[in-house]
Amino acid sequence: MGRRPMIAGNWKMYKTSGQSAILIQNLDERVESMWDRVEVVVCPPFTSLKAASTVIELDRLQMGLGAQDVHWEPEGAFTGEVSVPMLKELRCDYCIVGHSERREMFGETNETVNKKTRALLAADIVPIVCCGETLAIREAEQTDAWVRDQVRAGLDGISPKDAARIVVAYEPIWAIGTGRTPTPEQANDVARGIRATIGAMFGPEAAMTARVLYGGSVKPENALMFMVEPDIDGALVGGAALDAVSFAEIVAASL
Ligand code: 13P
Repeated sequence: MGRRPMIAGNWKMYKTSGQSAILIQNLDERVESMWDRVEVVVCPPFTSLKAASTVIELDRLQMGLGAQDVHWEPEGAFTGEVSVPMLKELRCDYCIVGHSERREMFGETNETVNKKTRALLAADIVPIVCCGETLAIREAEQTDAWVRDQVRAGLDGISPKDAARIVVAYEPIWAIGTGRTPTPEQANDVARGIRATIGAMFGPEAAMTARVLYGGSVKPENALMFMVEPDIDGALVGGAALDAVSFAEIVAASL
């Protein structure tokens, strides 16, 4: 369908800025030859964004840079928060929003996900909107409805043009950091539902163009089986993104 695969690394709360610069250089050596066929994105912690951005610019790396969260207001008395203009100045291309760890531990809601998504799009930073179900929701066979609701709420009010460039990451909560995964067919079923929701909200072109990633215990050994699924356009990788060799193997699997 012509969607360019994306492999994004969510580094979570790992890597100082010095370590981040080294990891990016090590990673680049291994993925450089694949640049034209797959989009590689790294999402280090806030404190590493400056170093990451500098390495990417000075070494002219074809690597996207993303943050892991953002506040929706451009500035203000919000202690500890970081704004969209701050990310823009560091040349962030992407920003993860609505990760389940933020929803579960830091009070992220569908409403704040939507505010962040809109603020990012207005500044031309592409949100990577995360969604996914708990084990209880999967066992109750409510996954599809749950995820569609999250997508509807997260993308509410954006334009069809913006919807076409959005990235949605489907990450079943029970698969994150556990070594457990859905079957590729199960993951693709949810990805197809996400695409259908985008289609219903914004039309067929947005549905064809928006990218849907799978995330949750993606490793070099299992990456390929998710990547070959028709509605899955790549991966959002946690643990395996912290090692240049394993991340590069996952990138290679997406070709
Ligand atoms: P793991 O790859 O460590 O399971 O983490 C997935 C994730 O949460 C990426 O955002």
